[in-house]
Amino acid sequence: MEIIHSVTDMQQRCLEARAAGRRIALVPTMGFLHEGHLSLLREGKERGDLLVLSLFVNPTQFGAGEDLDSYPRDLEGDAELARSVGVDLLFAPTASDMYPSGYASYVNVEGLTSVLCGESRPGHFRGVTTVVCKLFTIVQPQVALFGRKDFQQLAVIRRMTADLNLPVEIVGMPIVREADGLAMSSRNSYLSADERCQALALSDALRQARAAVAAGEKSAAALLQLVQCRIEQEADAAIDYVQIRHAETLQEATVIDRHAVLLLAVRIGQTRLIDNSYLVEE
Ligand code: PAJ
Repeated sequence: MEIIHSVTDMQQRCLEARAAGRRIALVPTMGFLHEGHLSLLREGKERGDLLVLSLFVNPTQFGAGEDLDSYPRDLEGDAELARSVGVDLLFAPTASDMYPSGYASYVNVEGLTSVLCGESRPGHFRGVTTVVCKLFTIVQPQVALFGRKDFQQLAVIRRMTADLNLPVEIVGMPIVREADGLAMSSRNSYLSADERCQALALSDALRQARAAVAAGEKSAAALLQLVQCRIEQEADAAIDYVQIRHAETLQEATVIDRHAVLLLAVRIGQTRLIDNSYLVEE
Protein backbone atom coordinates (compact mmCIF):
# COMPACT_ATOMS: atom_id res chain seq x y z
CA MET A 1 0.00 0.00 0.00
CA GLU A 2 1.20 3.45 -0.89
CA ILE A 3 0.40 6.56 1.16
CA ILE A 4 0.04 9.75 -0.88
CA HIS A 5 -0.36 13.21 0.62
CA SER A 6 -0.05 15.49 -2.40
CA VAL A 7 -3.20 16.28 -4.40
CA THR A 8 -1.35 16.60 -7.71
CA ASP A 9 0.62 13.37 -7.16
CA MET A 10 -2.59 11.55 -6.35
CA GLN A 11 -4.40 12.86 -9.41
CA GLN A 12 -1.45 11.95 -11.63
CA ARG A 13 -1.34 8.39 -10.22
CA CYS A 14 -5.07 7.93 -10.73
CA LEU A 15 -5.12 9.36 -14.27
CA GLU A 16 -2.33 6.93 -15.17
CA ALA A 17 -4.18 4.03 -13.57
CA ARG A 18 -7.33 4.90 -15.53
CA ALA A 19 -5.34 5.16 -18.76
CA ALA A 20 -3.88 1.72 -18.02
CA GLY A 21 -7.43 0.34 -17.83
CA ARG A 22 -7.70 -0.02 -14.04
CA ARG A 23 -11.13 0.13 -12.41
CA ILE A 24 -10.80 2.49 -9.44
CA ALA A 25 -12.98 2.05 -6.34
CA LEU A 26 -12.98 4.94 -3.86
CA VAL A 27 -14.03 4.94 -0.20
CA PRO A 28 -14.00 8.51 1.16
CA THR A 29 -13.61 8.76 4.96
CA MET A 30 -12.52 11.12 7.71
CA GLY A 31 -10.43 8.34 9.24
CA PHE A 32 -10.36 6.78 12.72
CA LEU A 33 -11.47 3.66 10.92
CA HIS A 34 -13.87 1.10 12.34
CA GLU A 35 -15.70 -1.97 11.00
CA GLY A 36 -18.23 0.27 9.21
CA HIS A 37 -15.47 1.82 7.09
CA LEU A 38 -13.82 -1.59 6.60
CA SER A 39 -17.08 -3.07 5.25
CA LEU A 40 -17.06 -0.38 2.55
CA LEU A 41 -13.42 -1.12 1.73
CA ARG A 42 -14.03 -4.88 1.46
CA GLU A 43 -16.91 -4.26 -0.95
CA GLY A 44 -14.74 -1.78 -2.87
CA LYS A 45 -12.09 -4.47 -3.25
CA GLU A 46 -14.71 -6.67 -4.96
CA ARG A 47 -15.99 -3.92 -7.23
CA GLY A 48 -12.72 -2.44 -8.46
CA ASP A 49 -9.14 -3.46 -9.09
CA LEU A 50 -7.46 -0.39 -7.58
CA LEU A 51 -8.81 0.31 -4.10
CA VAL A 52 -8.40 3.90 -2.91
CA LEU A 53 -9.11 5.06 0.64
CA SER A 54 -9.23 8.79 1.28
CA LEU A 55 -8.67 9.99 4.77
CA PHE A 56 -9.37 13.68 5.29
CA VAL A 57 -11.05 15.51 8.16
CA ASN A 58 -12.75 18.00 5.89
CA PRO A 59 -12.91 21.45 7.52
CA THR A 60 -15.62 22.82 5.21
CA GLN A 61 -18.23 20.40 6.54
CA PHE A 62 -17.79 21.42 10.18
CA GLY A 63 -19.71 24.39 11.54
CA ALA A 64 -18.36 26.96 14.02
CA GLY A 65 -18.28 25.37 17.48
CA GLU A 66 -18.35 21.82 16.07
CA ASP A 67 -15.69 19.16 16.72
CA LEU A 68 -13.22 19.84 13.86
CA ASP A 69 -10.26 20.24 16.23
CA SER A 70 -11.15 17.38 18.54
CA TYR A 71 -12.20 14.94 15.78
CA PRO A 72 -10.29 11.69 16.51
CA ARG A 73 -7.24 11.09 14.31
CA ASP A 74 -4.91 8.09 14.03
CA LEU A 75 -3.11 7.91 10.69
CA GLU A 76 -0.84 5.05 11.77
CA GLY A 77 -3.64 2.86 13.08
CA ASP A 78 -5.74 3.65 10.01
CA ALA A 79 -2.88 2.76 7.66
CA GLU A 80 -2.50 -0.61 9.37
CA LEU A 81 -6.22 -1.39 9.06
CA ALA A 82 -6.22 -0.17 5.45
CA ARG A 83 -3.33 -2.50 4.63
CA SER A 84 -5.15 -5.41 6.26
CA VAL A 85 -8.13 -5.06 3.89
CA GLY A 86 -6.04 -4.58 0.76
CA VAL A 87 -6.14 -0.83 0.14
CA ASP A 88 -3.77 0.03 -2.74
CA LEU A 89 -3.57 3.80 -2.35
CA LEU A 90 -4.22 5.72 0.85
CA PHE A 91 -4.82 9.39 0.06
CA ALA A 92 -4.34 11.68 3.07
CA PRO A 93 -4.15 15.28 1.85
CA THR A 94 -3.63 18.35 4.01
CA ALA A 95 -6.33 20.99 4.38
CA SER A 96 -4.09 23.61 2.78
CA ASP A 97 -3.53 21.43 -0.28
CA MET A 98 -7.26 20.73 -0.67
CA TYR A 99 -8.26 24.34 0.05
CA PRO A 100 -5.31 26.59 -0.81
CA SER A 101 -5.51 30.29 -0.12
CA GLY A 102 -7.93 31.92 -2.56
CA TYR A 103 -10.11 28.81 -2.76
CA ALA A 104 -13.64 29.91 -3.74
CA SER A 105 -15.62 27.07 -5.37
CA TYR A 106 -18.38 25.04 -3.72
CA VAL A 107 -20.95 22.47 -4.77
CA ASN A 108 -24.42 22.88 -3.31
CA VAL A 109 -27.34 20.47 -3.62
CA GLU A 110 -30.62 22.24 -2.97
CA GLY A 111 -33.79 20.85 -1.38
CA LEU A 112 -32.51 17.59 0.08
CA THR A 113 -30.05 19.57 2.21
CA SER A 114 -32.61 21.91 3.78
CA VAL A 115 -34.09 19.23 6.09
CA LEU A 116 -32.91 16.91 8.88
CA CYS A 117 -29.13 17.33 9.46
CA GLY A 118 -29.10 20.21 6.96
CA GLU A 119 -31.40 22.13 9.25
CA SER A 120 -29.36 21.53 12.40
CA ARG A 121 -25.97 21.85 10.68
CA PRO A 122 -26.20 24.71 8.15
CA GLY A 123 -23.48 24.49 5.50
CA HIS A 124 -22.57 20.92 6.45
CA PHE A 125 -23.72 19.26 3.23
CA ARG A 126 -22.20 22.01 1.10
CA GLY A 127 -18.87 21.01 2.62
CA VAL A 128 -19.56 17.32 2.06
CA THR A 129 -20.58 17.66 -1.60
CA THR A 130 -17.68 20.00 -2.29
CA VAL A 131 -15.08 17.62 -0.90
CA VAL A 132 -16.66 14.52 -2.46
CA CYS A 133 -16.80 16.24 -5.85
CA LYS A 134 -13.13 17.22 -5.49
CA LEU A 135 -12.22 13.65 -4.48
CA PHE A 136 -14.05 12.30 -7.54
CA THR A 137 -12.05 14.65 -9.75
CA ILE A 138 -8.73 13.83 -8.10
CA VAL A 139 -9.22 10.05 -7.83
CA GLN A 140 -11.29 9.45 -11.01
CA PRO A 141 -13.15 6.45 -9.55
CA GLN A 142 -15.63 4.37 -11.55
CA VAL A 143 -17.27 3.38 -8.27
CA ALA A 144 -17.51 5.04 -4.85
CA LEU A 145 -18.93 3.50 -1.70
CA PHE A 146 -20.85 5.21 1.11
CA GLY A 147 -22.63 3.95 4.23
CA ARG A 148 -26.36 4.19 4.90
CA LYS A 149 -25.42 5.21 8.44
CA ASP A 150 -25.30 8.73 6.96
CA PHE A 151 -28.56 8.23 5.11
CA GLN A 152 -29.11 11.84 4.08
CA GLN A 153 -25.48 12.23 3.00
CA LEU A 154 -25.89 9.24 0.67
CA ALA A 155 -29.09 10.71 -0.83
CA VAL A 156 -27.38 14.09 -1.34
CA ILE A 157 -24.33 12.50 -2.98
CA ARG A 158 -26.53 10.45 -5.30
CA ARG A 159 -28.37 13.65 -6.29
CA MET A 160 -25.12 15.55 -6.92
CA THR A 161 -23.66 12.70 -8.97
CA ALA A 162 -26.76 12.47 -11.14
CA ASP A 163 -27.26 16.22 -11.50
CA LEU A 164 -23.64 16.92 -12.46
CA ASN A 165 -23.35 13.84 -14.71
CA LEU A 166 -20.38 12.58 -12.75
CA PRO A 167 -19.36 9.21 -14.25
CA VAL A 168 -19.24 7.43 -10.89
CA GLU A 169 -21.43 4.57 -9.67
CA ILE A 170 -22.56 5.30 -6.11
CA VAL A 171 -22.94 2.21 -3.92
CA GLY A 172 -24.82 2.45 -0.60
CA MET A 173 -23.84 -0.04 2.09
CA PRO A 174 -25.71 -1.32 5.19
CA ILE A 175 -25.10 0.11 8.67
CA VAL A 176 -22.54 -1.87 10.67
CA ARG A 177 -23.42 -2.08 14.36
CA GLU A 178 -21.72 -3.11 17.59
CA ALA A 179 -22.98 -6.41 19.04
CA ASP A 180 -25.43 -4.50 21.28
CA GLY A 181 -26.91 -2.51 18.39
CA LEU A 182 -25.06 0.83 18.60
CA ALA A 183 -24.26 2.04 15.07
CA MET A 184 -20.48 2.26 14.68
CA SER A 185 -19.13 5.79 14.45
CA SER A 186 -15.77 7.46 14.95
CA ARG A 187 -17.61 9.82 17.31
CA ASN A 188 -18.56 6.94 19.65
CA SER A 189 -15.06 7.41 21.07
CA TYR A 190 -16.31 10.62 22.73
CA LEU A 191 -18.84 8.71 24.88
CA SER A 192 -18.17 7.95 28.57
CA ALA A 193 -19.12 4.45 29.76
CA ASP A 194 -22.41 5.79 31.11
CA GLU A 195 -23.17 7.73 27.91
CA ARG A 196 -22.30 4.64 25.87
CA CYS A 197 -25.14 2.81 27.70
CA GLN A 198 -27.56 5.68 27.13
CA ALA A 199 -26.63 5.78 23.43
CA LEU A 200 -28.25 2.35 23.01
CA ALA A 201 -31.58 4.22 23.15
CA LEU A 202 -31.19 5.13 19.45
CA SER A 203 -30.93 1.61 18.04
CA ASP A 204 -33.39 0.33 20.63
CA ALA A 205 -35.97 2.96 19.64
CA LEU A 206 -35.54 2.02 15.98
CA ARG A 207 -35.98 -1.64 16.85
CA GLN A 208 -39.16 -0.88 18.81
CA ALA A 209 -40.55 1.14 15.91
CA ARG A 210 -39.86 -1.70 13.44
CA ALA A 211 -41.53 -4.15 15.82
CA ALA A 212 -44.58 -1.88 16.13
CA VAL A 213 -44.86 -1.68 12.33
CA ALA A 214 -44.53 -5.46 12.06
CA ALA A 215 -47.35 -5.74 14.61
CA GLY A 216 -49.61 -3.55 12.46
CA GLU A 217 -48.96 0.04 13.56
CA LYS A 218 -49.62 2.35 10.59
CA SER A 219 -49.61 5.78 12.19
CA ALA A 220 -46.44 7.84 11.72
CA ALA A 221 -47.45 10.02 14.67
CA ALA A 222 -47.75 6.99 16.97
CA LEU A 223 -44.35 5.68 15.84
CA LEU A 224 -42.68 9.04 16.41
CA GLN A 225 -44.26 9.20 19.86
CA LEU A 226 -42.96 5.75 20.72
CA VAL A 227 -39.43 6.63 19.62
CA GLN A 228 -39.41 9.94 21.47
CA CYS A 229 -40.59 8.26 24.70
CA ARG A 230 -37.85 5.63 24.47
CA ILE A 231 -35.14 8.23 23.96
CA GLU A 232 -36.43 10.54 26.67
CA GLN A 233 -35.94 7.72 29.19
CA GLU A 234 -32.22 8.56 29.10
CA ALA A 235 -31.08 11.30 31.46
CA ASP A 236 -28.50 12.87 29.13
CA ALA A 237 -30.36 12.46 25.81
CA ALA A 238 -31.57 15.53 23.92
CA ILE A 239 -33.44 14.94 20.68
CA ASP A 240 -32.33 16.99 17.67
CA TYR A 241 -34.85 15.34 15.36
CA VAL A 242 -36.94 12.19 15.04
CA GLN A 243 -38.57 11.96 11.62
CA ILE A 244 -40.08 9.50 9.18
CA ARG A 245 -39.19 10.35 5.60
CA HIS A 246 -39.38 8.92 2.09
CA ALA A 247 -36.04 7.26 1.33
CA GLU A 248 -35.37 9.04 -1.97
CA THR A 249 -37.09 12.42 -1.69
CA LEU A 250 -36.61 12.85 2.07
CA GLN A 251 -40.12 14.33 2.13
CA GLU A 252 -42.13 13.60 5.25
CA ALA A 253 -43.71 10.16 4.87
CA THR A 254 -47.43 10.00 5.37
CA VAL A 255 -47.76 6.28 4.78
CA ILE A 256 -45.57 3.62 6.29
CA ASP A 257 -44.45 1.52 3.34
CA ARG A 258 -41.14 0.07 2.15
CA HIS A 259 -39.87 3.58 1.28
CA ALA A 260 -40.36 4.90 4.82
CA VAL A 261 -37.19 5.53 6.81
CA LEU A 262 -37.07 6.58 10.44
CA LEU A 263 -34.17 8.98 11.01
CA LEU A 264 -32.80 10.14 14.36
CA ALA A 265 -30.29 12.68 15.56
CA VAL A 266 -29.81 12.71 19.30
CA ARG A 267 -27.29 14.38 21.54
CA ILE A 268 -26.00 12.18 24.37
CA GLY A 269 -24.25 14.67 26.62
CA GLN A 270 -22.00 16.62 24.25
CA THR A 271 -21.96 13.97 21.50
CA ARG A 272 -24.37 14.17 18.57
CA LEU A 273 -25.26 10.73 17.22
CA ILE A 274 -27.33 9.76 14.18
CA ASP A 275 -29.01 6.50 13.25
CA ASN A 276 -31.77 5.34 10.93
CA SER A 277 -33.72 2.35 9.76
CA TYR A 278 -36.25 1.39 7.13
CA LEU A 279 -39.52 0.64 8.93
CA VAL A 280 -40.77 -2.20 6.76
CA GLU A 281 -38.41 -5.16 6.70
CA GLU A 282 -37.78 -6.49 3.20
P1 PAJ B 1 -16.95 9.27 7.87
O1 PAJ B 1 -17.88 9.65 8.97
O2 PAJ B 1 -15.54 8.90 8.20
O3 PAJ B 1 -17.62 8.06 7.11
C1 PAJ B 1 -17.04 7.55 5.94
C2 PAJ B 1 -18.01 6.57 5.31
O4 PAJ B 1 -18.22 5.48 6.19
C3 PAJ B 1 -19.38 7.20 5.04
O5 PAJ B 1 -19.88 6.78 3.78
C4 PAJ B 1 -20.22 6.66 6.18
O6 PAJ B 1 -21.61 6.58 5.89
C5 PAJ B 1 -19.61 5.28 6.35
N1 PAJ B 1 -19.90 4.76 7.68
C6 PAJ B 1 -19.66 5.36 8.87
N2 PAJ B 1 -20.13 4.59 9.89
C7 PAJ B 1 -20.68 3.49 9.32
C8 PAJ B 1 -21.33 2.32 9.83
N3 PAJ B 1 -21.52 2.14 11.12
N4 PAJ B 1 -21.78 1.42 8.94
C9 PAJ B 1 -21.61 1.59 7.59
N5 PAJ B 1 -20.99 2.66 7.06
C10 PAJ B 1 -20.54 3.60 7.91
O7 PAJ B 1 -19.04 10.47 6.11
C11 PAJ B 1 -17.94 11.01 6.14
O8 PAJ B 1 -16.86 10.46 6.79
C12 PAJ B 1 -17.64 12.31 5.41
O9 PAJ B 1 -18.78 13.12 5.42
C13 PAJ B 1 -17.12 12.12 3.96
C14 PAJ B 1 -18.16 11.42 3.08
C15 PAJ B 1 -15.81 11.33 3.97
C16 PAJ B 1 -16.83 13.51 3.35
O10 PAJ B 1 -15.92 14.21 4.10
